Amino acid sequence: MLSIRGLNTHYGASHVLQGVDLELPAGRIAAVLGRNGVGKTTTVKTIMGLVRPTAGEIALENRAITAWAPHQVARAGVAYVPEGRLIFPDLTVVENIRVAERTPAKAWPLERLLGLFPSLGERQRHKGAQLSGGEQQMLAIARALVSDPKVLLLDEPSQGLAPLVVRELARVIRLLREAGVTILLIEQNMKLAEAVADALHIMVKGRIVYSADPERFRNEEAQIRSRYLTV
Ligand SMILES: Nc1ncnc2c1ncn2[C@@H]1O[C@H](COP(=O)(O)OP(=O)(O)OP(=O)(O)O)[C@@H](O)[C@H]1O
Ligand SMILES: [Mg+2]
Repeated sequence: MLSIRGLNTHYGASHVLQGVDLELPAGRIAAVLGRNGVGKTTTVKTIMGLVRPTAGEIALENRAITAWAPHQVARAGVAYVPEGRLIFPDLTVVENIRVAERTPAKAWPLERLLGLFPSLGERQRHKGAQLSGGEQQMLAIARALVSDPKVLLLDEPSQGLAPLVVRELARVIRLLREAGVTILLIEQNMKLAEAVADALHIMVKGRIVYSADPERFRNEEAQIRSRYLTV
């Protein structure tokens, strides 16, 4: 579904992505883990067209989308939930979702989204600012889904959430997988990534240096943690 080959991205003289290779098959969830500053967010920003790569290719369903403008990438079917959520604080739950709906949603109309996220269903008329961190994250995901994306990019959705809320997030991500959504999940939370992903990838200094299925990942978890993830 999403295929990344030899992706390189610079910020001025700083060479951040140094040849990222990543395959995300349709209907699957791929998690990318890595320490702070290794280039995880830069990867999703480059996919989204917010940052221009200096080399490499990005393909969506075998069609090159490399360096397309963000609106073109979005229209091609990629939805992005950025780090920090960025919902509209003064809009209600329903308004936050409605403003992102470009054409009448087919796969994910409002009613289905409110059913998928029961706490949003109960707080339809609450403003964004009145929601808890977990509810804001769910709202950010709902807002991305209303565009009926082929691929969903989630950048550290568990950030700042309590363990119980992270479990609810895992439940929702699994439901999305069952519904056929393809997801690229950026995470620092190994447990969440392990609980939902079909494939786990570790990024170090702008490159994917390790990939495994959840079973192998669990077996090698202790080594992976000390070698690639702890500071
Ligand atoms: N707009 C920018 N201009 C210059 N350098 C940047 C910019 N954005 C990020 N960087 C640098 O690029 C590197 C990778 O940043 P990136 O945000 O992709 O990391 P990350 O893996 O998402 O980290 P985190 O886990 O903290 O979110 C870091 O060294 C960061 O300081
Ligand atoms: Mg980041």
